[in-house]
Amino acid sequence: MATIERSLVIVKPDAVQRGLVGEIVGRYEKRGLKIVAMKFEQVSEETAGRHYGEHKGKPFYDGLVSYITSSPSVLMVIEGPDAVNIVRTTNGATKPGEAAPGTIRADFGVTIGRNLVHASDSVESAAREVGIFFGDGGIVEWNRAIDAWIVED
Ligand code: RTP
Ligand code: MG
Repeated sequence: MATIERSLVIVKPDAVQRGLVGEIVGRYEKRGLKIVAMKFEQVSEETAGRHYGEHKGKPFYDGLVSYITSSPSVLMVIEGPDAVNIVRTTNGATKPGEAAPGTIRADFGVTIGRNLVHASDSVESAAREVGIFFGDGGIVEWNRAIDAWIVED
């Protein structure tokens, strides 16, 4: 059986402004992933700087920070077998034009600077990012009654 992983997901400000929160969260739920934390918050510049520290100095960095801090986001921790990869394949390629049809970025996006969602790119990144957004708590351990029909023992 695959390892149970966690991924830090951000439903970014463009998706919130466009009224796509339900649609996007529903895609993770319907795929079989389990939500273990969720909050609605406008990300501060300080937090954005920590979260996107790996991109500091790149040409798109200032635009990225101003985008992510511009308006509220939905922050989530999503859990499941191979969750890091499963969430990223649900999101699609970073550039919406290269994302496969049926992914969130292909179905709702046209430009890299408004690509609707973030997800952790490794188990290590997930641990770091979950610490940034949920280090003070907020993760709920719970049993999902339908799990036996989604995840093989
Ligand atoms: P994310 O972190 O948001 O899940 O996306 P990702 O791993 O697919 O992409 P990453 O390389 O980590 O880039 C983070 C975010 O920065 C913006 N970006 N803009 N204009 C550009 O060339 C450019 N490159 C990256 C995107 O919003 C991307 O999701
Ligand atoms: Mg990334």
